Amino acid sequence: MSAYSEDIGADTAWPAEATDRMNRMYRRQRHIYDGTRRYYLLGPTEMLNSAMSAISRRGLSDRIRLALGDGTAFDPERQFGILSFDHIFVSYSLSMIPDWRRVVQAAVSRLKPGGALHIVDFGGQERLPHTARTLLRRWLMMFDVTPRDDLESALSSIAGHSRSELKFERPFRGYAQYAVLTLAAERATP
Ligand SMILES: C[S@@+](CC[C@H](N)C(=O)[O-])C[C@H]1O[C@@H](n2cnc3c(N)ncnc32)[C@H](O)[C@@H]1O
Repeated sequence: MSAYSEDIGADTAWPAEATDRMNRMYRRQRHIYDGTRRYYLLGPTEMLNSAMSAISRRGLSDRIRLALGDGTAFDPERQFGILSFDHIFVSYSLSMIPDWRRVVQAAVSRLKPGGALHIVDFGGQERLPHTARTLLRRWLMMFDVTPRDDLESALSSIAGHSRSELKFERPFRGYAQYAVLTLAAERATP
């Protein structure tokens, strides 16, 4: 547990104002978050504390490492001593990060050949009834959440400029959007 705490607090460059704002939002909300997220997330440190407890309860403390960091400046080498990954998951977070495109770029740059970036988040809700969509958008705005309507085009552009394949879905009438961007595997040398 102490190893986590050191990681989490270590030398983060995350803006203090953003951390304070998120901590204020999640200080109480996190207690109901785990039990309720499945009903609406078809998505800072307060949240990491909850994650640490959950990991510990399940006896996975020796297999999972946590660190606090800004996704727009993702630096896993400094935080974990790891250069690249087979899979990177970004769950219901891009909609809360103004510079979300940088998060996507940083994540893609940290994939191994053949690796995959998985993104799930709120969608444009385009196939929901108009009133439901309007109310939902307003509710999300109260939590600083903005569905990224151009996520698919941003990922398509990356896929078009790199050897990668994009799978994109808009489940639950567009309530959510789900993407998997898979880089081409390294060719075997002849
Ligand atoms: C709605 S919660 C989702 C949490 C979790 N991924 C899940 O699916 O349950 C949004 C998360 O985005 C994180 N977040 C917001 N801005 C961030 C940033 N710039 N870099 C990394 N994470 C950020 C918040 O700390 C929060 O934990």
